Amino acid sequence: MRLKTSLPADPNIYGFGEHSDPFRVPTGEDYQRTLWNADGAFLPPRSNIYGSHPMYIEHRKTGTHGVLLLNSNGMDIKIKGTGAEGAASLEYNTIGGVLDFYFFAGSSPTEVSEQHASAMGLPAMVPYWSLGYHQAKYGYWDVNMLAEVVGNYTKAGIPLEVIWGDIDYMDGRKDFTFDEERFPLEKMRELVDTLHDRKMKWVMMLDPGISTEEGYEAVQRGREAGAFLKADDGSDYRGVQWPGEVVWPDYFSDEGKKWWTSEIQKFFDPETGVDIDGAWNDMNEVHNFCGDISCDPAKQAEDDNIPPEPENPPRNNTGRPIPGFPDSFQPDGTLEKRRAPGDKLGLPGRDLFEPLYKINTSTDHLSDQTLYTNITNHDGTHQYDTHNMYGLSMVKATYQALLARRPGVRPFVLTRSTFLTAAKWSAHWFGDNESIWQHYRISIAQMLGFTAVHNTPMVGTDVCGFNGEAQENMCARWAMLAAFMPFMRNHADISAPHQEFYLWDSVAAAARKAIDARYRLLDYLYTAVHRSHRTGAPSVRPLFYAWPGDEATYGVDLQFLLGDAVLVSPVTDDDARSVTFYLPDDVFYDFWTREPVRGGGEAVTRDDVAWDDIPVHIRGGSVIPMRVDSANTTAELRQLGFELLVAPGGDGTAKGSLVLDDGESIDGSLSDVAFAWDGSKLVVDGDFGYESGLAVERVVVLGEKERSAEGDWSLDSSFEVNIS
Ligand code: GLC
Repeated sequence: MRLKTSLPADPNIYGFGEHSDPFRVPTGEDYQRTLWNADGAFLPPRSNIYGSHPMYIEHRKTGTHGVLLLNSNGMDIKIKGTGAEGAASLEYNTIGGVLDFYFFAGSSPTEVSEQHASAMGLPAMVPYWSLGYHQAKYGYWDVNMLAEVVGNYTKAGIPLEVIWGDIDYMDGRKDFTFDEERFPLEKMRELVDTLHDRKMKWVMMLDPGISTEEGYEAVQRGREAGAFLKADDGSDYRGVQWPGEVVWPDYFSDEGKKWWTSEIQKFFDPETGVDIDGAWNDMNEVHNFCGDISCDPAKQAEDDNIPPEPENPPRNNTGRPIPGFPDSFQPDGTLEKRRAPGDKLGLPGRDLFEPLYKINTSTDHLSDQTLYTNITNHDGTHQYDTHNMYGLSMVKATYQALLARRPGVRPFVLTRSTFLTAAKWSAHWFGDNESIWQHYRISIAQMLGFTAVHNTPMVGTDVCGFNGEAQENMCARWAMLAAFMPFMRNHADISAPHQEFYLWDSVAAAARKAIDARYRLLDYLYTAVHRSHRTGAPSVRPLFYAWPGDEATYGVDLQFLLGDAVLVSPVTDDDARSVTFYLPDDVFYDFWTREPVRGGGEAVTRDDVAWDDIPVHIRGGSVIPMRVDSANTTAELRQLGFELLVAPGGDGTAKGSLVLDDGESIDGSLSDVAFAWDGSKLVVDGDFGYESGLAVERVVVLGEKERSAEGDWSLDSSFEVNIS
């Protein structure tokens, strides 16, 4: 289907400015996006990767609109003829499904995001703690190493909120099992108890590929329950994933969901198992190690030695003391259904492997390296039509399973694969990037795409890069950048050297400063994520959202606004010490020095940006709630009072807001506090449903002459502060 458009000649309007990065489309070049969820290791440019969201936003000076095609089938979307004024077209080449278009009339960018959310459903609210700093790595040797990493963070004075368990913890990479030598259950329980005592959190990996190994109880129960997808001969469909030969749950089916919930409840039972705080869903595009449909899974797993033996021998401890951990760790001696499917199961007589139109996937055939497209789901639909929703179905099932474990408590699920509405059940990370500057840069555009266009407020990238070797300066810059992104997790591959922030002094210094700022701003960030959850307004915004009339902002994808008032302009060139960024014609205040800065609607160059620095500005006209101090964990942070930064705009006024709740209940009480500054008086008003017991201890009015007032104003009711 082709929509004629009158797209302007300058593709910068889409945000692809001239840049050497291969992700950018050169001016005038036709542009194509293929939607077919696939593994995207090393983020191959202009290739289909982990998620599919057939949605775009078009913005121009006169207004904004959005177009969504609610269709899960594979498709190519082509923008042609952007080089010639008036001749452009937008083409959808879908290999199935219905042409169910939604047009969001705008007229501002934020309104389009909100209309999109109101049509598709609002994203889930994440727990407060998930905004803390996270550390993961594929290849942590054993439970002792997990403890040691935590201990090293403590020693380095870098706050760590969450430590993650990758597939290393599993026996032969099987879900719902422990490598009893390296990650024995009893010691895992001790680790998690210690973390919880220290107000830290623990998240574990669950992959969708379920091993078919003889005697593996989870698969036996799954078979009995009829939980798995079927091949066309009626047997459980087999492929290859981390544990070797596997079958895959049908998460759309009641059987699949029930079995998944019961495995999760059993394995993560706080009394007898490991008490997780969240779940990590990976490989759910689906990524199948079987290359194509001629694959013999058992043979391939054997030929490729999958799963391999763990590289490292078991050991009782690391041989080094780990402060704060029990004796056993010490050296020896110590999408909602809109209608029933009915008979709408796809056109009869289709070729489910090779449709007549071949979309431009990175692999040769639709079924390569994924579930075969002829597989029938329990409801009679085929993977051909639902492929792009497999990850969505998995996170929905996981979310519901976690909710069953802790009723009323917000589940935290992180997913690699996404489709429209995945944010109702999960946060998202951008998958297996590389430790290169290009991927540091592209993470900003990835974030903006997800937060602004796809209504996914809780996103982030593998900080310092997943594949390859992280370099010191890059990792320092990345710590600074990621501190201003919603989800902040350092993660690396098993083949990559360790890159925990404490390993280099300069990176540790950057991380301490970055996390200190992040935590002081954490309630501001929480409020921004909450706005997204309540209204669909993006948690992080491209600059044109805030200055829609300023054409110079349209192509900016290396700067962003956290919430609607904190402008982040990182150093982006490789190894550079300086950065040139755009400051709109507006009033700003330097976040670090708090000095006023008048933006002139032009590029500004900042030289000598230290490795532990990042240009950040507060937009005039805003009131920013900050904690008076940072803390080691978000639990401690939540005890601290607030400082309000009043940043008057050109007219001398400012406003802002703050959401306060218990940070974890789904339907808990809530305070939504509004701040309004008129030039001499701050009025604090709003809904005070949640008794926080917290107070504002300081109000600072930024300006040529900074003014402030100290006090003890309770945030549980209205108050006013006069500052002349
Ligand atoms: C995938 C994930 C990565 C994880 C690895 C091992 O590559 O994207 O994050 O570490 O699998 O589970």
